[in-house]
Amino acid sequence: MSISERLREATAEAHRQAEHSPFIEDLMSGRLDRGEYERLAAQLYFIYEALEEVGDALADDPVAGAVIDDKLRRLPSLGADLASFGVDPSTVTPLPAVERYVEAIQATRTDPARYVAHHYTRYLGDLSGGQVVAHRMREHYGVYDSGLTFYSFEGIDKLKRYKDDYRARLDALPLDADAVDRLVDEALAAFAHNQAVFGDLDGARAA
Ligand code: HEM
Repeated sequence: MSISERLREATAEAHRQAEHSPFIEDLMSGRLDRGEYERLAAQLYFIYEALEEVGDALADDPVAGAVIDDKLRRLPSLGADLASFGVDPSTVTPLPAVERYVEAIQATRTDPARYVAHHYTRYLGDLSGGQVVAHRMREHYGVYDSGLTFYSFEGIDKLKRYKDDYRARLDALPLDADAVDRLVDEALAAFAHNQAVFGDLDGARAA
């Protein structure tokens, strides 16, 4: 099986769970409000800050560098979205699950195969389900396009073609069997981190 097939297969159940986590289901079905989306976006800021900081450090690495692409960079657009909501990320406290997620990303600085897992989990998700999220946020909560630039990838006109190319780059990574196992395991960990973030967001809402 190719690396991209292994990743997709290994994370299929975790993906299903993430899609059906209470916070995401409520958010996507219009049961929450715009403020809850803003809270999610503010927490994502810390995650992308780590993802793109480690990405910058690994840009010349033969493994991580094969997937890193400036066209994917999300921190500037996320910052602009938050500014449009009047949220200054420097005043936001990361949730405990976000702190753990950020630590996990930072720990991959010395293991590019594991970094790729985090890259795959977030960016391929943003290029896929993220598009549905943007649509629903507009529809249910009236979030303006100026608050949803996170989901619009300037410079990538055909998302499907980009994702196919991305999977081809994954499949061509110069990794031995052990490194591929680490990559797949870390993708599962990355999904678990996302799930934990949704759990914290849900818990904070109930509190
Ligand atoms: C709002 C809930 C979600 C919806 C509606 C959704 C929807 C989708 C859809 C339709 C695809 C398939 C796209 C394609 O094959 O081109 C996809 C793929 C993907 N999603 Fe999600 N998703 C959601 C949440 C998430 C979350 C929370 C993550 C992880 C952070 C995630 C990560 C991914 C990844 C990595 C892929 C690529 C799978 C692959 O082709 O290898 N998704 N998603």
